[in-house]
Amino acid sequence: MAKGKDEWLFAINFVKHPTMLGSVIPSSRWLIRSLLAPVDWERARYFVEYGPGVGTITRHILKRMHPEAKLLVLEINDDFVRHLNSAIDDPRLVVRRDSAASLGTVLDELDWPHIDYAVSGIPFSIMSSEDVEAVLKETRARLPPQGEFLVYQFSRHSAQYLHRSFDDVSREFVLRNVPPVSCYRARSNGGIGPSEAPAPM
Ligand SMILES: C[S@@+](CC[C@H](N)C(=O)[O-])C[C@H]1O[C@@H](n2cnc3c(N)ncnc32)[C@H](O)[C@@H]1O
Repeated sequence: MAKGKDEWLFAINFVKHPTMLGSVIPSSRWLIRSLLAPVDWERARYFVEYGPGVGTITRHILKRMHPEAKLLVLEINDDFVRHLNSAIDDPRLVVRRDSAASLGTVLDELDWPHIDYAVSGIPFSIMSSEDVEAVLKETRARLPPQGEFLVYQFSRHSAQYLHRSFDDVSREFVLRNVPPVSCYRARSNGGIGPSEAPAPM
């Protein structure tokens, strides 16, 4: 489907489900460049993307990832799931109509050993804190210490969730996007997450 039609489908869905999308147009190329800058394309074999929408970031990942790598996308909007299945023909892509909070179950079904990168644009600021915590817990549990969670968020308040769940979080602000956006890079040192650790005596 042409880029204009992708944008049209995205805008229609923003009108139908404004809180599910959080933004009226897909990610800009400046946002995508910053978000994916940390990726080691030669090494990584297992990618996951939460909330691919019409596949704007998905296509970039597929273009750059290794021929033997795989990409799982988790999306809860039926229109977008249908669109992704019909518009992108790549055997390395797995599209699932599931919430990001179901990551562990889906990975077990697919028999993936771990993930190297999780990429996310789902809007934490308009989700319940229980849902956000579930997504972060599932993600952290499946990322090895050298793995990274690459996240973009429109609200700066979302950073608190990342800091609570990951040991090392850095941020880059991208002005050339509608609306301007923060890109986060989150890593853990292994072991249980800071928010799950017992309180000091
Ligand atoms: C801001 S849009 C991002 C679209 C696309 N990634 C882009 O860059 O243009 C957020 C997307 O997250 C999806 N979404 C919201 N909550 C989700 C969840 N819990 N699990 C998976 N996808 C979700 C929405 O349906 C929507 O497609």
